[in-house]
Amino acid sequence: MYRVLARKYRPQTFADLIGQEVLVRTLTNAFASGRIAHAFLLTGIRGIGKTTTARIIARGLNCIGADGKGEATTNPCGVCANCIAIRDDRHVDVIEMDAASRTGVDDIREIIDSVQYAPTSARYKVYIIDEVHMLSKNAFNALLKTLEEPPPHVKFIFATTEIRKIPVTIISRCQRFDLRRVDGETLSRHLVDVARREQVALDPLSAELIAVAAEGSVRDALSILDQAMAMHTDGAGATHITPESLREMLGIADQSRSFALIEQVMTGKVEEALTLVGTLYRQGIDPGLLLNDLMEIAHYLTRILAAPSLAADVHYSPKEQETAKRLAAQLSVSSPTRAWQILF
Ligand SMILES: Nc1ncnc2c1ncn2[C@@H]1O[C@H](COP(=O)(O)OP(=O)(O)OP(=O)(O)O)[C@@H](O)[C@H]1O
Ligand SMILES: [Mg+2]
Ligand SMILES: [Zn+2]
Repeated sequence: MYRVLARKYRPQTFADLIGQEVLVRTLTNAFASGRIAHAFLLTGIRGIGKTTTARIIARGLNCIGADGKGEATTNPCGVCANCIAIRDDRHVDVIEMDAASRTGVDDIREIIDSVQYAPTSARYKVYIIDEVHMLSKNAFNALLKTLEEPPPHVKFIFATTEIRKIPVTIISRCQRFDLRRVDGETLSRHLVDVARREQVALDPLSAELIAVAAEGSVRDALSILDQAMAMHTDGAGATHITPESLREMLGIADQSRSFALIEQVMTGKVEEALTLVGTLYRQGIDPGLLLNDLMEIAHYLTRILAAPSLAADVHYSPKEQETAKRLAAQLSVSSPTRAWQILF
C-alpha cells in the first residue's frame, strides 16, 4: 500500500525536524538543565511540525535509553520499550486526544480524573491535546484547575493553529513555542532529499516552485510533491517533473493574458484592455481570480522597481519575467503601487 509522503517522512527525532531550530535549542537546554515545564503549548500554521514535536517530546520524557538507565532527553533512543510503544501509539501513559472531536467538559473531566493516578509503566503521564483551541469554555475552565497544580508525574502538551482562541490563563501556564513557517531554501532542500529517497529526480527550480506554493508548510509541500510524482510518472515508471509541468499542475501556468492586460492598462491602451477583458469574461474566467492575478503582478512590478534582482521569481515563467522587466522599465514606482491599491 502506498503511504503518502507526509506520513512516511514524519520525523522521529529532532535531528530530522527541519526549520525549527529555536524550539529544538530551547527544549534541549531545558531538558539538559532539568527544568522541564509541566505544560507545553505548540502553535503555528498547518503542517510545520506541531503534532510531530508533541510526539517527540512524549517519547523524550519517557525514554529510558537502550540500557534502561537513561533520563528524560530530547534525543529519544527509539529502541527502548517506552519509545517503541509511544511510536506505535499504544503506550498506556501517553494519552493523545483530538480536541476537534472531543470538545466537551466531560472529555476533559475524564482526563482530570485520571491525572491523579501515577503512571503505569512510564516516568510521566503525558496528555497530548491536539487542536486544543476547539475545547469549550467550560472544558478550558476545568483544565485550568489541573494546570494550576499538576501532580509532578503529569505533563501536558497542547497543539494549536489558533493561538488567539486559547484563554490567556491557559497560555500563561504553559511553556509556549511558536513554530515557524519553514523558509523556502530549507523546504526546497528537504523536498529534493525526500525525492532522492523515493528515487525521483527533482530539479532545484521545481523544488523551489513547490516550496513557494506550500507557503512554508512542510506537509503541504510533501502533498504537492506526492501529486506531482503521481501525475508525472509515465507507463514505464519513470518520473519527469519539470517547472513547466508543475506550473500547469499548480494552476499558475498561463498568466500571459494577465500580463498582457496589465501592460495595456499601464500603458494607456484602453480599447485593447477593455476588449481583452470582454474576451476573457466570455471565455469564462473568474473575475475575482483575474483581479487577484493582476494584483499579484502589480505587486511583482513594484518589487522589481524596488530591487531589480527580485524579477527572478519562480512563480513566473522566464517569459513572464522578461515581460515584467520590460514593463517595469517604463513605469515609475508610484504607478504599480497605485494600481495595486485600486485593485485591492
Ligand atoms: N518541521 C518539519 N520537519 C520535517 N517534516 C515536517 C515538519 N513539519 C511537518 N512535517 C511533515 O508534515 C507532516 C505533518 O506534520 P505535523 O502533523 O507535525 O504538522 P502539524 O503542525 O501538527 O499540522 P496541523 O496543524 O495540520 O495539525 C509530518 O508527518 C512530516 O512529514
Ligand atoms: Mg497537528
Ligand atoms: Zn527510548
